[in-house]
Amino acid sequence: MNENIPEVLISEADIQSRVLQLAEQISADYAHADDLVMVGVLKGSFMFLADLARRMSIPRTIEFIAVSSYGDSDASTGAVRLVMDVRGNIAGKHVLIVEDIVDTGHTLKYLIGMMKSHRVASVRTAALVRKADKAEVDVTVDYLGFDIGNEWVVGYGLDYAEQNRTLPYIGVVKPLDT
Ligand code: IMP
Ligand code: MG
Repeated sequence: MNENIPEVLISEADIQSRVLQLAEQISADYAHADDLVMVGVLKGSFMFLADLARRMSIPRTIEFIAVSSYGDSDASTGAVRLVMDVRGNIAGKHVLIVEDIVDTGHTLKYLIGMMKSHRVASVRTAALVRKADKAEVDVTVDYLGFDIGNEWVVGYGLDYAEQNRTLPYIGVVKPLDT
């Protein structure tokens, strides 16, 4: 077991105030849209989705999707596999994909394609964190919490080998080589 407490990169207070801003912005943007479905990407988005959804002021429903990258390393291979699709019928609805972190962008790009194959009315994306320097594909994050450097982060849903997901802040496990 890893006993060490990761160093704080983004504090709980900073996360909470940013999530509130995003919730208000999303609520305003979708004020006149019916049928907003927030699609959380398991497992990493569970805390962000819970806080974001609770702070919104417009009707919304929740779905979950699960994907995994092929391979076990912390370097994305770019190949994404669908583990679990949404349960509900989302055709014709406005979808907001809620992701924990955008690294290379392959996962988010794949998910946007998946949602389009469900013939949804529109797709936008929210992510708490993005590693801006690591983008390999061009993918838009409509609602972004924070840009960070190239480091492996944990907490607030994010893990390193399944550890540290429940920390209330985002911490750094280790810097990564580029
Ligand atoms: P991408 O396809 O390279 O953008 O990878 C995105 C996925 O990799 C995220 O949804 C996370 O599950 C995982 N990931 C990437 N960077 C980190 C990190 O620093 N901490 C925890 N998970 C990460
Ligand atoms: Mg993820």
